[in-house]
Amino acid sequence: MASLSPPQLRPPSPPLTHQQNRWSLDDVIGPEHCIEPFYFQDAPEQVAENFERLLSRDVFSEADAQFLYDWLLDRGVSPAFRAMLDCWLEDELKHYQALRRCYHALAGVSYGEMDREATHRAKKRNIEPIADLLVDEFSILLLLAYDEIGSTYSYRRDLAEFYQHFGRAIAKVGQHLVRDEGQHFSNAAELILSLYPDRLQDVPATLVRFDQREKQLACTGSYHGTFFLDHAQEQARFPKDFNAITMQVIEARLGIAALPGQDKLKRLWQWKPEGRAFVPVA
Ligand SMILES: [Fe+2]
Ligand SMILES: [Fe+2]
Repeated sequence: MASLSPPQLRPPSPPLTHQQNRWSLDDVIGPEHCIEPFYFQDAPEQVAENFERLLSRDVFSEADAQFLYDWLLDRGVSPAFRAMLDCWLEDELKHYQALRRCYHALAGVSYGEMDREATHRAKKRNIEPIADLLVDEFSILLLLAYDEIGSTYSYRRDLAEFYQHFGRAIAKVGQHLVRDEGQHFSNAAELILSLYPDRLQDVPATLVRFDQREKQLACTGSYHGTFFLDHAQEQARFPKDFNAITMQVIEARLGIAALPGQDKLKRLWQWKPEGRAFVPVA
C-alpha cells in the first residue's frame, strides 16, 4: 500500500558548480622520495639552489589555506561557496604535503623542522593589511579567483624552470599543482557567475583595488600569511604586465572582456629577466 505520509521537504542543495582534479598524493610521491644524484648533476647551473629557496616559501604558503578556510567559515559563507571550499581545502592541504615531500627530497629538510617553521610563521599571521578588501562574498570570491589564476601561471613557470629537472615524481607534482590551481580559478569564477551575476559591473574596479594593494604589500616586502595576495612577496619574478594580463583573463572568464592574445598568455610563464636562463629566486 502506498504511504500516505506527505513528501519530505528537503532544503535545496547548493548548485554543484565546482570541479576537482582528483589525484592521490601517495601514488605520485612518497614521504621518503629520493631524487637520484644524476638529476642534480644534469640540472642547469643554480637551478637546484633556486628551487630550494622557492620551496622554502611555497611549502608554507600552501599551509596558509587552513587559516583562510577557518577564517571564512567563522565569517560565514553561502552553502555553495562552502561546498566548493571543502574541495579547495582538500586540494590545498594536499599541495602542502606534496611540497613538503618535494622540499624534503630536494634539500633534506626534516619534517620536524618544517613543522617548527609552520608554527613559527602561524604566530606572525595578520589579516589586517587585506581585511578591508574582504567586504562581502563577491569580493572574497573575486580575490580567490585573482590569487588562483596568479598561482596557475606561477606554478606553470616553476614547472618549466624547476620541477621538471628533478625526475618524474617531482614533475608530476608540478603538473598537478598547475591543474588544481587552474581548476580553483575556474570554480571561483563559476560561483561568481552563478551567485553574483548582478555584480559583474563591479569586477574591473575591484580587481584594480587588489592589484594596487598587492603592489603596496610588495613594497613593504612582507607576506602576512593569510593565503590571499601571497604573490606580493615575489613581484620581481613576474613580467611587469603580469597583473594586467591576469586581470584580463579573469574578466574574459566572466564574459566581460576578450581573452588576451596567446603571445601575452605565454609571456606570463615564459618571461625571464634579460640574460637569464630562468627567473632567479631572491
Ligand atoms: Fe595550492
Ligand atoms: Fe589553489
